[in-house]
Amino acid sequence: MDKNQTSEKNKPFRLVKYFTFSSLTVIFAGTIALSFFNIHWARTMGLDKSEEYALVLVENLNHQVFLQFIIPVALKYGKIQLRNKEQYVRMDKVVRSTLHSFKVDMVNIYDMNHTISYSFDKSKVGKTDLGGTGYQYAIAGRSTSKLIQNGNFWQILLGLPSKSKIVTFAPLRAEKPLSALSGPVLGVVEIMQDLSEDHQTIFRFQIRVIITSTIVMLVLFLILIFVVKQGEAIIHRRNLERIRLKEKLNQARRLSALGKMAAGISHEIRNPLGIIKSCAELLKKKMAVFDPKSSIPNIIVEESNRLNRIITDFLEYARPKPPNLSGCRIEKILEKNIDYLKSQTESKGYTVLSEFNDNLPKVMVDTDMMYQAFLNLLINAMQSMPSGGTIRIHIFHRAGNIHVHIQDQGEGIPAEQLERIWDPFFTTKDTGTGLGLGLVKNIIESHKGTIDIKNLSGKGIQVAIVLPAIL
Ligand SMILES: Nc1ncnc2c1ncn2[C@@H]1O[C@H](COP(=O)(O)OP(=O)(O)OP(=O)(O)O)[C@@H](O)[C@H]1O
Ligand SMILES: [Mg+2]
Repeated sequence: MDKNQTSEKNKPFRLVKYFTFSSLTVIFAGTIALSFFNIHWARTMGLDKSEEYALVLVENLNHQVFLQFIIPVALKYGKIQLRNKEQYVRMDKVVRSTLHSFKVDMVNIYDMNHTISYSFDKSKVGKTDLGGTGYQYAIAGRSTSKLIQNGNFWQILLGLPSKSKIVTFAPLRAEKPLSALSGPVLGVVEIMQDLSEDHQTIFRFQIRVIITSTIVMLVLFLILIFVVKQGEAIIHRRNLERIRLKEKLNQARRLSALGKMAAGISHEIRNPLGIIKSCAELLKKKMAVFDPKSSIPNIIVEESNRLNRIITDFLEYARPKPPNLSGCRIEKILEKNIDYLKSQTESKGYTVLSEFNDNLPKVMVDTDMMYQAFLNLLINAMQSMPSGGTIRIHIFHRAGNIHVHIQDQGEGIPAEQLERIWDPFFTTKDTGTGLGLGLVKNIIESHKGTIDIKNLSGKGIQVAIVLPAIL
């Protein structure tokens, strides 16, 4: 039930958690998509620029070929024939000197009959019907460019083809004097630029963007997980605290009902018990005459006393009195306890080691209640060492509190019983009521103190009491 309650309370927080995690995932996916989009955009822009660049190159080449080749050759030879070696060498010189500082990998010049009459690659000269639609458009006066990518499916998808180049076809025109290119088409120029390197740079940039955003997201995830864990721990602690307080309240309610009932019943029991006890004492006197060895009257008296003590303890536990506080020294109360137990400790082989630090501040306590609490603890310690041993009592002052540690060398408490020792009527002793520690806890807590019991690493247990000191 506790667990259900805790998870119920965590629900709104869980919503926030899922919302934040899914937002982060969406942001991450968005960043990756955006980076792909950016890369695509960068590549398209690069392509447009390459296209423009190629057209400017072609325009320039057209101009230089016309001025430095067509006009002089026409004047000198009367006819342009690139099969003529001299003319070819001149053309090659003009083309190479025009393009030498630009990034161009291949140039082909076609004549009007679809035949390559000049090329960087001499083996292509004389070939016909190459160039496809690019050539057709150029002959009709239109420049076109197309991107050619080589690579497998994944290379193309990821944007890293093994080879990518842009091929531009443009008409080679005769120039009118003093004007731009507008004369009749004389042939077609094909220019090829290798873009593999540019694409690889863009791809490397893309990888860097993805790695950076992955790292940033990972760090954000880790921070978020940390914050969520902290938040959950706080909520869990609060819920446990709430449940604990609720249980305490329920217990207090139960106890107050029990107390009222117990007060009535114990009154009813105590009266006949008193009568039984006095009758037993009378019986003892009379029996002394007839049967002086009989122990029966004594047993009746002793058991009546025990029953009376149980009723008193129970009443004190069920209806705790508010403490009557006065400033006093805690070590003085413990000295009184030790004094009271002296005859027993000496005869049964117990050593009491008192280590009381000097200049201990006073505490506000009800001396009678504290005396009773310490007595219970010391008796428990003695009972845990039936054949004697050492009881160490250490009192010291730390951070505005008085600490009282009582250690014994007994058998200790099995781990599974540690939670239950505070429960009323929990006892492992034949003659115990199991109310001792419950009473002690009530007393310490009514003084705004705390009490803890733990097993010592060697032998026995340590009871640690903390009480606020008067400063
Ligand atoms: N010093 C100790 N060493 C080992 N076990 C202890 C010690 N003090 C308490 N306990 C365990 O805790 C149980 C509860 O202690 P508590 O004082 O409440 O009752 P009790 O001693 O059994 O009976 P009562 O105090 O009423 O005579 C004990 O029965 C015992 O099992
Ligand atoms: Mg006890």
